[in-house]
Amino acid sequence: MLKDRCPILEFADLGDERGKLVVIEGSQNVPFDIKRVFYIYGSDDTVVRGQHANRESEFVLINVAGESKVRITDGTEEFVAELNRPMTGIYIPRMIWKDMYDFSPDSVLLVLASTHYDGAEYIRDFQEYLREMKAEEKDGGNGFHG
Ligand code: TYD
Repeated sequence: MLKDRCPILEFADLGDERGKLVVIEGSQNVPFDIKRVFYIYGSDDTVVRGQHANRESEFVLINVAGESKVRITDGTEEFVAELNRPMTGIYIPRMIWKDMYDFSPDSVLLVLASTHYDGAEYIRDFQEYLREMKAEEKDGGNGFHG
């Protein structure tokens, strides 16, 4: 199931009476070493971001403030995750198509990535994504990343 491949991650709350504290460590409570961090804010509910898949990158998405939704598909299955808790993230492996939308005005969407940025590993055309997914299936999922 696609949902099993894109698990919701619940981070421990190390907070106390002074407030909340959430710690994320590469390869400890996220499944990769973190090479890049970026965050998206100032988007609103008319905007759709993402609309791509990545040939190499893995991501964890966390709404550290406000809320948004992410629609996830592998070309066969699809589901929507609501991101609205700073203690909760979603893991997105390589070769998954994602759209982020319905941003609240106060949304700050934090993204942790397993790679440095390389525009060439983005697939921004859904038909091309489906072609590459088919090619990987034929390849028998033996780890060939094209
Ligand atoms: P884009 O991938 O379209 O953002 P989103 O996935 O949120 O819709 O990126 C917008 C621009 O920022 C694009 O010109 C590429 C650039 N960019 C970087 O230079 N480094 C990065 O790590 C990211 C995510 C984007």
